[in-house]
Amino acid sequence: MAKLAVPLLIFFFLLSCIPSQAAPPLQTPLQTPIQKDHSTSQYIITAYLKTPLMPTKLVLDLGATYSWVNCDDYISSTYQHVPCNSSISNSLSGYGCEDICDGPPGPNCANNSFLFIPNNPIKPVDYKKVNGLNDALVDYLALLNNLGSLSSIDNFIFSCARTGFLKGLAKGVTGLASLGNSNLSIPVQINKAFSSSPNCFAMCLSGSISQPGVALFGSKGPYNFLHGIDLSKSLLYTPLIFNPFGKDFDPYSHRSPEYYVGLTSIKVNGKMVAFNKALLAFNDRGYGGDQD
Ligand SMILES: *[C@@H]1O[C@H](CO)[C@@H](O)[C@H](O)[C@H]1NC(C)=O
Ligand SMILES: *[C@@H]1O[C@H](CO)[C@@H](O)[C@H](O)[C@H]1NC(C)=O
Ligand SMILES: *[C@@H]1O[C@H](CO)[C@@H](O)[C@H](O)[C@H]1NC(C)=O
Repeated sequence: MAKLAVPLLIFFFLLSCIPSQAAPPLQTPLQTPIQKDHSTSQYIITAYLKTPLMPTKLVLDLGATYSWVNCDDYISSTYQHVPCNSSISNSLSGYGCEDICDGPPGPNCANNSFLFIPNNPIKPVDYKKVNGLNDALVDYLALLNNLGSLSSIDNFIFSCARTGFLKGLAKGVTGLASLGNSNLSIPVQINKAFSSSPNCFAMCLSGSISQPGVALFGSKGPYNFLHGIDLSKSLLYTPLIFNPFGKDFDPYSHRSPEYYVGLTSIKVNGKMVAFNKALLAFNDRGYGGDQD
């Protein structure tokens, strides 16, 4: 199984996460502020989607296979469906195909359209009340680059969703941004569009209201956050491991979109916590850890 080369850095830097103005330009082509919603504790990015580009607030999800956006009020002059049996849909492993849609044509209704089954990680969608099958769409996605202008991916693939999918998500949010271990995650799609940029992303999460955090896509560093301080040098690194059958695993690729770290023990205030350490591991069938 090919291992995804995504050195994932999540650092919690509480004072200031704004890249310093005087710092040399970052290597990363794209970045976006991360705002914490204090009533839900969700982290939100603002991406630019559609034509004309519209700011779109998306909840960050480190364990989602693909991004999704509410299509009940989706207006764009450039969106396209992914035809079933097309080369794109065949690379996505079969979720399903909508052969005929009876309703008025629109982003979430087309004949011969590839389908996704998105979910809401905060409040699971009640598929008895809300149609879980939603059209795959391709449209423009843009994020700020390090020069302060927008760089766009013209064939960003995501799933439509419906208003019923937004329950439990922060106010103003209209979808979800996938950063999971998947070929459809935003970092991987950016890497495909800008192949010169490394397939890496970093996130600085800030709890501050006045100083947002930042997500950086396509840079191995330096991460210059304060004058002369490159945080990529002082971070601690640990390998990510992938659970073949973990939460939300894809029945076709047998791969969980979630990232795991190989925990061996837990210390609190320097004191080892006594518990059955076998519970921390999972086997090649995915059992163990949080699956028990
Ligand atoms: C897609 O291909 C399969 C197998 O080749 C075929 O059975 C199916 O009808 C095709 N669907 C469409 C919408 O062309
Ligand atoms: C799908 O095709 C049928 C005819 O086969 C047509 O009546 C219907 O309007 C089409 N639906 C859409 C959304 O274009
Ligand atoms: C991504 O695509 C590559 C090549 O198509 C494949 O080898 C790899 O397993 C895929 N990764 C995931 C997480 O699906």
